[in-house]
Amino acid sequence: MALLRGSLLALLVLGGVHDVLGAPPQVPLGPAAVAPAAKPRKLTGRFLHLTDIHPDPHYREGMSEKSACHRKKPKKKPRSGPFGYTYGECDSPLLLTNYTLDYLESKWADEVDFVIWTGDSARHDNDRKIPRTLKEIYALNRVMARRMEEIFTSRGIPVIPSIGNNDVWPHNIMMPGPNDVTSEFSSIWKSFVPFHSYQVFQRGAYYSVEVIPDQLAVISLNTMYLFDSNKAVGGCEVKDRDDPGNLQLDWMEVQLQAFRARGMQTWISGHVPPSARNFHSECHIRYTELSLRYQDTILGHLFGHMNVDHFFFLDARTLASEEENDGGAHTAGKHKDLYATLLKDYDHLYKREKDLDYDSISVVNVAPSVVPNPYLPSFRIFSYNITGSRYSAGLLGDSGTDSGVGQQHHLGDFVDREELCQGPDASNVSWRCNLNSPWHSSPHSPSRTNRLYTPLGFAQYYMPNLTGTERHPPKWKLEYLTYAPQALHPPAAAGEPEAGKKKDAFVYPVPLKRLPRKLRDANVTASKFAPYAMSDLTIPSWTALAHRLAKAGGRSKLRKRFRRYMYMGANEEL
Ligand SMILES: *[C@@H]1O[C@H](CO)[C@@H](O)[C@H](O)[C@H]1NC(C)=O
Ligand SMILES: *[C@@H]1O[C@H](CO)[C@@H](O)[C@H](O)[C@H]1NC(C)=O
Ligand SMILES: *[C@@H]1O[C@H](CO)[C@@H](O)[C@H](O)[C@H]1NC(C)=O
Ligand SMILES: *[C@@H]1O[C@H](CO)[C@@H](O)[C@H](O)[C@H]1NC(C)=O
Ligand SMILES: *[C@@H]1O[C@H](CO)[C@@H](O)[C@H](O)[C@H]1NC(C)=O
Repeated sequence: MALLRGSLLALLVLGGVHDVLGAPPQVPLGPAAVAPAAKPRKLTGRFLHLTDIHPDPHYREGMSEKSACHRKKPKKKPRSGPFGYTYGECDSPLLLTNYTLDYLESKWADEVDFVIWTGDSARHDNDRKIPRTLKEIYALNRVMARRMEEIFTSRGIPVIPSIGNNDVWPHNIMMPGPNDVTSEFSSIWKSFVPFHSYQVFQRGAYYSVEVIPDQLAVISLNTMYLFDSNKAVGGCEVKDRDDPGNLQLDWMEVQLQAFRARGMQTWISGHVPPSARNFHSECHIRYTELSLRYQDTILGHLFGHMNVDHFFFLDARTLASEEENDGGAHTAGKHKDLYATLLKDYDHLYKREKDLDYDSISVVNVAPSVVPNPYLPSFRIFSYNITGSRYSAGLLGDSGTDSGVGQQHHLGDFVDREELCQGPDASNVSWRCNLNSPWHSSPHSPSRTNRLYTPLGFAQYYMPNLTGTERHPPKWKLEYLTYAPQALHPPAAAGEPEAGKKKDAFVYPVPLKRLPRKLRDANVTASKFAPYAMSDLTIPSWTALAHRLAKAGGRSKLRKRFRRYMYMGANEEL
């Protein structure tokens, strides 16, 4: 039955219905959009970010961490539990992945507009006795994709997956496409990838989806071509214009240009975050520059892979040299250093506050994983503004006046190229010396000011205690949220609604029934769940949080909270 439903959907999707299913009711249906059963959905103003599920069919209860929870019952505890092994090196038992997806289906499927799913839907290669095979990797990806279809696609909710470094064999290595990987994933993801993206997908496994037609799109990247652990690609060298990383960023540029020209907004999603340490250096430079050149068209950057909750900045000024270039510097597996590295970066930003120009900064949000490896299972529910007025910079043209400050920057304004780019070969050595296009940035864009489509905040759910049985499974709980408690309720809750304004027009950033009891009270003004009280997730709001963290003492409550969220209570040493 499920299978039948899946393939029927795939057909509908290939017919171009996919985009329309996610449309707000006011959007006119396109000519091909005759889906008999598909009622246009009303926007909820929320979306789900899910990442790093890592299902492991070899996982067994009562086994040792050393064996990746596959065998060898240890004499002493801890042993693997039915729902996973916390703070260790084991992947997700299917009991956990099934329970998580069932939970998302029953509690969240009707509460979100789209799903960003940033990869690693197969187990790690961490057991020499049971090496992974390509067949197993594809099979696990298929099972996960079919379930995501049942839960979301069947309800008309677009799902936007990206490929992870463990979704290929051997892990981290992916050759330029078209190849078996791009071809297999175009089949596994056929209900997610729009038909018009098919050709590009065959080449590189990247694509975009209009989650609200003509208004909001998600650009899903294949970070395997940008990731510096992938030794099968050249790493965006200037001289090698056919390098798959360069081709992908060329494509991304064209996408952004086209969406901007239509006055649309975009989210960028992918698996490996675009940090200096994770990306090939030239890919990182190009990505950062592109994120700034289209800052007025990009709402944010959503990634996974690290399994650690954090955010970092892409900062044009750090592109001047290799050394300074450690924004979000870290490698997977070296989680302990990450906290210190991030605070150092926040401190740099804070010290340069006086000359902080928001045009030179974008923000990357890295979500923690579903797999409790090495922390706890979690997922994020973002909310975004669906009531404001539309910002239409792209439609206004490129006069530069839409920036409100009458000036358009380019990379050279933040990187001293006189010094860096001397000599006849300079332009062939680095993208630093080649990127001269004017930037589209504006203080009025949704990434800088709260307006239509601006991200407002997120609520993060986790499973703090994995003890349980199939009959009495562990519970998902709210870990924290970025909002102020007051923002969770209509402003007029304590008094009369303003004249002419209906109270029921309020869009709840988190459905009340998904909040802990205390936060359901409209009068709550402070809560342990809401330490940040951010008014929205614009670039200025993230730099303000970074400044607060930089200023706060090493023993401050704020830093302790931030660190606890990163490591979810695990005993990571400073
Ligand atoms: C998990 O769900 C899949 C179907 O999606 C099923 O085949 C499998 O048996 C389930 N496993 C467990 C342990 O519940
Ligand atoms: C959405 O944006 C509009 C401005 O366009 C603003 O008035 C409104 O307060 C925002 N909504 C929320 C929930 O922040
Ligand atoms: C840069 O590389 C191109 C192609 O390899 C070559 O034609 C050109 O002469 C080089 N320019 C410089 C300044 O070295
Ligand atoms: C975890 O849950 C189990 C079962 O509900 C309970 O017995 C145990 O005390 C809990 N552990 C912690 C640390 O809260
Ligand atoms: C909130 O506070 C107001 C005034 O103090 C009070 O009248 C109201 O009952 C309170 N509401 C709740 C839900 O506690």
